[in-house]
Amino acid sequence: MLGNFTFSIPTRVHFGDKALDSLKDELARFGETVLLTYGGGSIKKTGLYDRIVGILTDAGKEIVELPGVMPNPTADKLREGAKLAREVSADLILAVGGGSVIDYSKAVSVSAWCDEDPWDKYYLRMEDPDNKIIPVGSVLTMVGTGSEMNGGAVITNPEQKLKIGHVFGDEVFPKFSILDPVLTFTVPERQMVAGIFDMFNHITEQYFSGDDDNTSDYLAEGLMRNVIVSGRHAVKDPENYEARSNLMWDASLALNTLIALGKSTDWEVHMIGQAVGALTDATHGLTLAAVAPAYYRLIMPFGLERFKRFAEHVWDVDPAGKTDKEVAEEGIRRMEEWMQEIGVAKNLTELGVTEDMLDDIVKGTFIMEGGYHVLTKDEILDVLKASM
Ligand code: NZQ
Ligand code: ZN
Repeated sequence: MLGNFTFSIPTRVHFGDKALDSLKDELARFGETVLLTYGGGSIKKTGLYDRIVGILTDAGKEIVELPGVMPNPTADKLREGAKLAREVSADLILAVGGGSVIDYSKAVSVSAWCDEDPWDKYYLRMEDPDNKIIPVGSVLTMVGTGSEMNGGAVITNPEQKLKIGHVFGDEVFPKFSILDPVLTFTVPERQMVAGIFDMFNHITEQYFSGDDDNTSDYLAEGLMRNVIVSGRHAVKDPENYEARSNLMWDASLALNTLIALGKSTDWEVHMIGQAVGALTDATHGLTLAAVAPAYYRLIMPFGLERFKRFAEHVWDVDPAGKTDKEVAEEGIRRMEEWMQEIGVAKNLTELGVTEDMLDDIVKGTFIMEGGYHVLTKDEILDVLKASM
């Protein structure tokens, strides 16, 4: 049942190969000092940095640079960025990059004017911001997380062996996001397929919950079908505009709260994946790909009806002459075959996990209650062992 809800997505999206033309008008809505955040340098190689600096300069902005945002941004980097944003009194944080840069910018936006340690406040204590928040805008260069259109901000604390996501409210969503699929053509294949599985898993995390038959479920199925097809095309031909643009929009719709309406939502694959990421610094989407098949096999008996529906509606499995369990199993098998096909099927060993890390990964995994089965610590260990 959809029940009662309030739906609000305050991010203005400019989509398409001319989307960057809209940046100038967006900038006019904000003050003079722009904190320009970006990653390890891909935007300089692709020439995007020069284009952005040109637009900012033409708009009369004072640019303060905050480069070096790493994949899996750390708590120390957050403290550094928060200090700088406050010192320069930034009017806008312009995030140019993938999920890491956008997540990081949102975290800086709530931390700059916060007098407490942001890791403790927002991640360990999970408190909401009660101070001034600097607006964030984004230019997306890597597709998968949905960060361009949501309030999520995942930060890693390697010393504490924790990677935690805080889902902030409306006021932290990017005020605008520029989504030009052409900017994603240069993403290395390994990152591209990690992003494809990330968005696919965002959908399954929400789809595999509850036993309703509502709009969200049908939207989720349509999105999954498109991710499967577009993923195949993008791997064969990375400059296929149709595939890359579909994936870009699929990723935003997958995690902008739309398909969570009426759902309890699971997120256990993400919790295990994040715990793996905290210890290994592995690429986010690959950590999910490594553990998802074993996790779904484990919980399938508890949500058999939905796994059967997944097989039929998403993978076109013909149920004739098969038991429900056989149909459901075939759905998971087809998902794995697709993962092999696009090259995202990895195991934890390939991602740097060793046997002696397993206990810490179990300890660092948050147990969620919205899916079909609440895992025990032993079951988390079973999933990890089956994924090595
Ligand atoms: O740092 P640079 O040099 O820019 O290189 C990046 C980085 O190495 C490169 N890249 C990005 N765009 C490129 C490019 N290379 C060439 N051409 C381009 N156009 O790709 C690498 C990965 O980038 P990153 O931003 O780390 O990837 P992603 O977008 O997958 O973000 C991952 C982070 O987002 C979090 C993850 O946990 C992880 O920390 N997530 C955020 C979510 C949210 N906000 O809701 C939800 C997700 O589940 C996820 O947890
Ligand atoms: Zn994810």
